[in-house]
Amino acid sequence: NPIVPPDLTKCKTAEAPTLDGKCCPPYTGTETIVDYDFPATAIRVRRAAHHVIDDEDYMAKYREAVRKMKELPADHPWNYYQQANVHCQYCNDAYDQQGTTDVPVQVHYSWIFLPWHRYYLHFYERILGKLIGDDTFTIPFWNFDNPAGMTYPQIFQELNSPLYDPERDQAHVKPDVLMDLKYTYGKTAGSGFVGQELINSNLDYIKKTFDNSLPLPELFMGEQLRAGELKENVSSGQLEVIHNSVHMWVGPPETTYHVNMGNFSTAARDSTFFSLHCNVDRLWDIYRHLRGNRLEFNDPDWLDSTFLFIDENERLVRVKLGDCVDANRLWYMYEQVSLPWLGKLP
Ligand code: C2O
Repeated sequence: NPIVPPDLTKCKTAEAPTLDGKCCPPYTGTETIVDYDFPATAIRVRRAAHHVIDDEDYMAKYREAVRKMKELPADHPWNYYQQANVHCQYCNDAYDQQGTTDVPVQVHYSWIFLPWHRYYLHFYERILGKLIGDDTFTIPFWNFDNPAGMTYPQIFQELNSPLYDPERDQAHVKPDVLMDLKYTYGKTAGSGFVGQELINSNLDYIKKTFDNSLPLPELFMGEQLRAGELKENVSSGQLEVIHNSVHMWVGPPETTYHVNMGNFSTAARDSTFFSLHCNVDRLWDIYRHLRGNRLEFNDPDWLDSTFLFIDENERLVRVKLGDCVDANRLWYMYEQVSLPWLGKLP
């Protein structure tokens, strides 16, 4: 059977020492769950973070939207930290699946990783747009699969900006330090390459990931996970593995919990999170196009999985996984940038 949302009245202490395990939502129990109305806006274009940095009008809007989100009452479901807590709830085991007491709702490590995060970004972006009265607002993607975007996005590094977070790896967030898509914490951190060799290693890694997984969606997306099954029995997709490296690369290596970006429970408290995931989402979109938009899994246990979110009208809404596989349905698309790794595909 497909994964269903948890009973929201049963949120418990999360497996997260960072926040004392406290990341439950401000839920009163009186909210009605309604099916989400997909907004019929004009197609909204998500642009690359290294491009929007030169668009001062856009940057002013982005900062303003996040500033407003941070200024909302702490218990408002749109509050910046409440939005970040959503990630903690579904990653750090704040809920059990309905009808179980020991199978957490977990949105990583399986075939629901990409769709759940697609919706999470969508609602976050729609709320930001609402806060500044701009129905066309989009979040930018960190174009780390292109040499032009292979360094830390400097839009997040302006001091005194609401997008700034001091808890990052200071050795990595400089404008001229190349990222390593094989980075992990520990002694043998990463590919071992520098300069042009590191760029090539990153591009080859993306190429290989697509190459291997184009015929086999579970390799790209993550293995099948059905209601009541434990994530321990399935493997993450290769795109998720790359994404884990980016999380670690931004989080400070020397601290116990690598807060913020290096820890699931706090990652979404850093705005970088949304641009990292925006690119992950974009790579999924490219993957679909390369497969001729064929459905990855023609299986109701995937397509009929449902999730709950607070939407841009402050309603508690239910969404179905199958409704987001085509990004057009959510009325956004990605700015076209070159894909230097694609030419390397056989
Ligand atoms: Cu929900 Cu980047 O992880």
